[in-house]
Amino acid sequence: MNLKSVNPRAHVIESQQFDIDFLEELCDLTLHMKQNRRNVGDELAGKNVLNMFWEASSRTALSFVNAAQYLGAKTTLIVNAGKFSSASKGETLEDTIRVSSAYTDFLVVRHNHDDASEQCYLASRVPTINAGSGKSQHPTQALLDFYTIKDHFKRTDNLSITFVGDLLRGRTVKSLTYLMAKFPGNSFNFVAPDNSRIDDGIKTHLNDLNVAYIETEDLLGTLKKSDIVYMTRVQKERFGSNPERPEELTPEENAEYERARDMYKIDRNNINLIPCNSILMHPLPRLDEISKDVDHDERAKYFIQADNGLYVRMALFKMMNDYNYR
Ligand code: NCD
Repeated sequence: MNLKSVNPRAHVIESQQFDIDFLEELCDLTLHMKQNRRNVGDELAGKNVLNMFWEASSRTALSFVNAAQYLGAKTTLIVNAGKFSSASKGETLEDTIRVSSAYTDFLVVRHNHDDASEQCYLASRVPTINAGSGKSQHPTQALLDFYTIKDHFKRTDNLSITFVGDLLRGRTVKSLTYLMAKFPGNSFNFVAPDNSRIDDGIKTHLNDLNVAYIETEDLLGTLKKSDIVYMTRVQKERFGSNPERPEELTPEENAEYERARDMYKIDRNNINLIPCNSILMHPLPRLDEISKDVDHDERAKYFIQADNGLYVRMALFKMMNDYNYR
């Protein structure tokens, strides 16, 4: 199915949907939301936003809920939706979404299955936003990452972007790669342990677009030539080989996980390898891949990045609300 042609003002499924016009409007509106957070008007008054989260979330869930509330909407948040929805009785995701979407005006869903977002899009009767789907995508994280990058560099092209960590199981890296690959001159360095390398789908996409990338295990050598260093957490909950229960690791898998987790760290001993005007990003939550003793470094942008999530999601709700859905 060609999801790329779905208007992101109607449904947000994957980051390939965002074009330059959409991104420019979103960034302008995000700045407006940031400057007028408590005074943006009741754009969503009379509307309901239902947030259903099958997976753990702090930043994403809370920023979606609060973004909708600042715009005047009423919100419902269901955490642990696998347990507290009829999914626990064996209902299919499709049926749950079909029915729940009739009670609301916007639906925000996080799910552990890679193709959940596509299923939600097909089943939902209202604008639906992917808040993270398994290992595959997290498109609104890419939007807030994009805003943070643009805000710092005042451009989004000709950047050398280094992704570090669990590039196989993490979804934020995939969504941001699809997004940044749209801009000329961007190049990618994928730094990962051999058990967590970036998947072939991304490499094929970059090859098709003729975008330069390398894969390496050498973090220190790569830091020096990076405009953006984007660290990620090794995803323990997706590390196991049993597709039904990837969170249950055998002793061998646990040892592999520990090895991957210990491999790359940014701390005060190596942060100065990153050039002065470059930035250090992380979608959070972090484990120990970024030491807290670099939190006050000028290059560390991860808390600003998380803060931007609220304003980006406010802007997104406004754009979706302004769009004449169906
Ligand atoms: C990320 C996610 O859920 O993919 N978190 C987030 O939404 N900021 C990253 C992660 O869980 O490691």
